[in-house]
Amino acid sequence: MRILVGISGGIAAYKAITLVRRLREAGCEVRVVLTEAAAQFVTPLSLQAVSGAPVRASLFDAEAEAGMDHIALARWADQVIIAPASADVLARMAQGMANDLLTTLILATTAPVTIAPAMNRQMWAHPAVQANLATLTARGVRVIGPASGSQACGEVGAGRMVEPEILAAQLLAPNPSVNWRGKRVVITAGGTQEPIDPVRFIANRSSGKMGFALAAAAQAAGATVTLICGPNALATPAGVARVNVQTALDMHAAMMDIAQIDVFIGAAAVADYRVAEPAVQKIKKTAAADTLTLTLVKNPDIIHSVAQRSPKPFVVGFAAETEQLRHYASQKRMAKGMDLICANQVGENLGFDQPDNAITAIWAGGEQVFERSDKAVLATQLVELMNKIIEQG
Ligand code: C5P
Repeated sequence: MRILVGISGGIAAYKAITLVRRLREAGCEVRVVLTEAAAQFVTPLSLQAVSGAPVRASLFDAEAEAGMDHIALARWADQVIIAPASADVLARMAQGMANDLLTTLILATTAPVTIAPAMNRQMWAHPAVQANLATLTARGVRVIGPASGSQACGEVGAGRMVEPEILAAQLLAPNPSVNWRGKRVVITAGGTQEPIDPVRFIANRSSGKMGFALAAAAQAAGATVTLICGPNALATPAGVARVNVQTALDMHAAMMDIAQIDVFIGAAAVADYRVAEPAVQKIKKTAAADTLTLTLVKNPDIIHSVAQRSPKPFVVGFAAETEQLRHYASQKRMAKGMDLICANQVGENLGFDQPDNAITAIWAGGEQVFERSDKAVLATQLVELMNKIIEQG
């Protein structure tokens, strides 16, 4: 595989040396492109030594352009990874700028582009950065990380670049340890929306990231994957069939429409209740009434219905709990007929709408704790665990 590694300016740039080494050890051909700022943090000479090829930084290098010009370099790549991806490079990518060699290559390539953001946690949390990120993911750019932890600036939070070993492993999927060729996997993801009237709905904070990461991991293992998802702007993983739904009833119906399911993973945050009778017209605020009462009715439990099927698929569910994680998750697993439950503590910046997660996986024969890590990494590990439990029968 031919991988173009783009490095932008940030203290994490030194980690790109390890990334290049790991990719080369895995048999990849690597070419490195630096931004001007990256060259302040890591030397072209070190990168040339580890990549075994000249490193490029400028669009206007006549000698390099005479060898492999920038368009040829963009065509050469099977994959592009930008690690670290700074706030500046995210902004320029989101705008479609081509004001240096790296951003020009990104516009000129048809290869999949992956970014590993790294920046101070406040910068990462800034709405401008998040808006750029949303634009890029909607355009199909794959985002790995950032991870959480202590930062070079002395602060602690989300913004660290995911470790180079993990990035290399993610780029080099498919997962050779699991062969799900021929398995039909159905995954629900994201939150449902339950209409109140034509302009309002009841929703929740689920981002859909965990379900999308699981779809990518199951697809990488060779499965035929259908992703039934509530409204969200995430890009569909390559090779995955996507069914968009709005309400829990739609999600239930979409699941019922699928005749054969070998593995069902319920990662969606399905609304437990819906408005009994959504108003046909927009509900008006009135001077007379200080309160408004909505009557809610229970939604069908999708995971419970799928677990009643014969033959029974391997059923995996999630449990987001704020207290007594193991106790409530085990109860839920048995009550809903799940083979495996992935329990996660919500609160403390974990779980919903975060790029990473920590999970306690519980099944009839055991339990395994997965420490906090990127959802893409967790998804691969969870697919491996599911495979192990299925094989053990
Ligand atoms: O009971 P609770 O909502 O916490 O259960 C969470 C698990 O059940 C998740 O796997 C979720 O996808 C699934 N679920 C479902 N249908 C519902 C409610 C939850 O499939 N109506």
